[in-house]
Amino acid sequence: MTSYRLAVVAGDGIGPEVVAEGLKCLAAATEGTGITFETTEFDLGAKRWHATGETLTDADLEAIKGHDVILLGAIGDPTVPSGVLERGLLLKLRFELDQYVNLRPSRLYPGEVSPLSDPGDIDFVVVREGTEGPYVGNGGALRVDTPHEIATEVSVNTRHGVERVVRYAFDVASKRERKHVTLVHKHNVLVHAGHLWRRTVEAVAPEFPGVTWDYLHVDAATIKLVTAPASFDVIVTDNLFGDILTDEAAAISGGIGLAASGNVNPDKTGPSMFEPVHGSAPDIAGQQKADPSATVLSVAMMLDFLGHAELAAKVEAAVADDAAAKVAEGWGPRTTVEVGDALAARIRG
Ligand code: IPM
Ligand code: MN
Repeated sequence: MTSYRLAVVAGDGIGPEVVAEGLKCLAAATEGTGITFETTEFDLGAKRWHATGETLTDADLEAIKGHDVILLGAIGDPTVPSGVLERGLLLKLRFELDQYVNLRPSRLYPGEVSPLSDPGDIDFVVVREGTEGPYVGNGGALRVDTPHEIATEVSVNTRHGVERVVRYAFDVASKRERKHVTLVHKHNVLVHAGHLWRRTVEAVAPEFPGVTWDYLHVDAATIKLVTAPASFDVIVTDNLFGDILTDEAAAISGGIGLAASGNVNPDKTGPSMFEPVHGSAPDIAGQQKADPSATVLSVAMMLDFLGHAELAAKVEAAVADDAAAKVAEGWGPRTTVEVGDALAARIRG
């Protein structure tokens, strides 16, 4: 009998709809296993901000820290100024909980469609740095709204921060079949940060003699992602490059409706957080149109993180089979609940 404390942040837009199906599939996967999840729901996001002006209070943060893992739906709403919830809530969670690995796998499941004519066997994982880079909010604006306005966003890269995420990427690669890491940056222009990343990879690589590595400028990486995506194994990159590349990676491997992620604190000094890569999609919120598959795959990543690889594989297989069946049989649109029910049924077997 193992019991985990799960913090649930359903959030905005389609968040509550997809999280409900994620929890349904979690229940299906753990049924009869003796593994239970004790959930606490956190009322965070646009509604709370409108009502109280709060995004994430110290008390919220402390309460969340009392959990083993977090499941998050989506954050962001057009009625809240851009950046308020993203910085004050989502990024604050990633930073305060030291979730320095943003793990984003891309797999084109057999039978699933890609917009690429010849995608090949896509199966790679992006290890995106999660707590540094241009995301730290180090910058400012001068002479705002004048013709001479100046705005800076300074990317912060520490040796400590880069080294730990690079080491994590090599560790991930060492457990995969091809054992290859590609560092993506732009060290021909961003010479300070870029060479720090390059030197760090050069220093860490010898710790993993079975793992090979190469380097790609980020612009070239965007090309290779659409011309030879199957050639990638593990990509390690900074926070912003990783943000952009993982949307591209989702688009070529079944779409954003299937893209899952884990914001991982490998040192376990705080809970790790699992969330679909997609946003809150306010245009379809409350209409049962959202695909919960990415959230269900995020649940699989959470189970894997907790050491339940078999359960994780079962959940992932359910999504993969459902996606393939949908294409093969040409199913029309299903509601969010219908997809969740179908996935839960497949998980139960
Ligand atoms: C993501 C999102 C976030 C990010 C936003 C909402 C802050 O785009 O998880 O990829 O940029 O990290
Ligand atoms: Mn993004």
